[in-house]
Amino acid sequence: MHQAEKPRGALGVVMGWLLERGNAQQNRATVEALEPPPGAAVLEIGFGPGHALEMLANTRPLGLVAGIDHSELMVETARRRLARRRGSAALDLRCGEARDLPFDDEQFDLVYAVNSYHQWPDKADALAEMAGVLRPGGDLLLSIRDFRMEGQFESPGKGATTALEAGERMKDFGLQVRTREVVHSPRRATFLVRGRKPGPSRRVPSTV
Ligand SMILES: C[S@@+](CC[C@H](N)C(=O)[O-])C[C@H]1O[C@@H](n2cnc3c(N)ncnc32)[C@H](O)[C@@H]1O
Repeated sequence: MHQAEKPRGALGVVMGWLLERGNAQQNRATVEALEPPPGAAVLEIGFGPGHALEMLANTRPLGLVAGIDHSELMVETARRRLARRRGSAALDLRCGEARDLPFDDEQFDLVYAVNSYHQWPDKADALAEMAGVLRPGGDLLLSIRDFRMEGQFESPGKGATTALEAGERMKDFGLQVRTREVVHSPRRATFLVRGRKPGPSRRVPSTV
């Protein structure tokens, strides 16, 4: 398995560093779009070095900051990073698989993943799990990168196709889907695919 899909060992440490820098723009744009209500419980799948979770914990009044990643190295890295977080949110970072979430049903106000969904071998199972741990009125958000030029890691426009398919899959789980595109540069954009679980919402109206 490629290091970006499951960082491990000495090369994994380098990969964590590369993820931190390479995905900073996408993580920032994603966190800006997240709208957890005050005191919310949030869950990130595939958090890597924990950059997005740290930004959320430092800028929003959360009750619980949780995450799951199948790389033990990334769990250790993110735990060290989040130990320095501001705010009073509880922390629960675990090693595990997206397709088998060890959390209670309807426990989270917000469940999201940044630049990880495209790596999951069993996407429908993982989305079913994510929808299951989401409270009614809560949001599931997938942040999917899209390269616009040749010479990057994957073919241009692949992210757009992945985002379209992800939105269709989310509808299968009863989520109300809206997609927004954030253009970072002529080379790179991010698709934010948001699925809202029907039910009373505790948050301010969404911009996506
Ligand atoms: C490309 S990195 C992105 C990390 C971080 N979200 C970011 O944007 O910098 C993908 C992360 O997802 C994790 N991951 C990939 N497939 C997974 C799966 N099936 N279950 C749990 N974690 C997974 C990897 O270990 C890795 O840390």
